Amino acid sequence: MKTYKVGVLGGDGIGPEVAAEAVKVLKKAQDGFGLEFVEYPFGSEHYLKTQELVPDRAFEEIRALDAVLLGALGDPRLPVGLIERGILFKLRFGLDLFVNLRPIKLYTDKLCPIKNKGPRDIDFVVCRENTEDAYSGEARFEKKGTPDEVAIQEARYTWKGCERIIRYAFELARKRPRKKVTLVDKANAIRAHDLWRRVFESVGKDFADVQKDTAYVDATCMWMVKNPESFDVIVTTNMFGDIITDLGAMIQGGMGIAAGGNIHPGKVSVFEPIHGSAPKYKGQKKVSPLAAILAAGMLLEHVGEKKAGDRIESAVKKVLQSEALPSIDASSGVPTDKVGDMVVRALGA
Ligand code: IPM
Ligand code: MG
Repeated sequence: MKTYKVGVLGGDGIGPEVAAEAVKVLKKAQDGFGLEFVEYPFGSEHYLKTQELVPDRAFEEIRALDAVLLGALGDPRLPVGLIERGILFKLRFGLDLFVNLRPIKLYTDKLCPIKNKGPRDIDFVVCRENTEDAYSGEARFEKKGTPDEVAIQEARYTWKGCERIIRYAFELARKRPRKKVTLVDKANAIRAHDLWRRVFESVGKDFADVQKDTAYVDATCMWMVKNPESFDVIVTTNMFGDIITDLGAMIQGGMGIAAGGNIHPGKVSVFEPIHGSAPKYKGQKKVSPLAAILAAGMLLEHVGEKKAGDRIESAVKKVLQSEALPSIDASSGVPTDKVGDMVVRALGA
């Protein structure tokens, strides 16, 4: 029987609570394969105690795993961005996880915030480039602290970086019924985005069966609300992907349901709810674990257990459609672990 090694990095705030529910569901979903979990303590608490982010030895160990489930990172006691860059970006860049895959899928009418739209209209996937852009550029401050200060951060894109994410998006679209890829950029204002246009056209030649479209990022925000059904697969830059997927989370029902994967096909990849660590809810068992649970489903698909991954997604959908869970925000009245139990029961049914 195949056994997969899965790292669990609960992280900060509510991260450990939601990750624990995802692990519970993963254990139940084992069917014809095994899962071995390795827990990691890294996060803000650990950093405050030890000054350690992800030590090299642990990083090499993680590299040899099949996948990682990440809870959440971020703590107001630390300088802005320290833990994000030290842990999240260390994993994304260090493991070369060039795809940030974020499905935007409305599972039930009950969660829909847009009038006259439903599950049939909101079902697309964002392929966010995950290793370049302003995210990986060095910041430079000139004449710091003076009225003449200039802060510079380069947004850098490479042909190869664009090529691999655009190709991934086309391959994904080919497997979906509608077979359409929309390149989201700001080529009308940012001259460097001309590269994205050229790579899109070049790679697109290998995918005659896939429909192609381009949209500016500002207009995309409008269409996502006005005509979300026009999207199937979106491919975009790191920064724009970050921004539009928070909007995406809202149109699929909220941060409590939005999941994503930081992926390098065929290599260890990191799956996470896209919500943050929500420090004010820490330890209260109030938040929805469904995003983390859906991330666990994506994790199974990544390691090659798509059937089990799909079963998790179906179980989540069943729970969402039941009366027992009135909402997925912190006021649902259903504790985090009870929502996890509901999914476990739905999996067994
Ligand atoms: C995300 C988050 C991160 C990002 C933050 C925490 C640095 O917003 O995963 O979308 O910007 O990538
Ligand atoms: Mg974000």
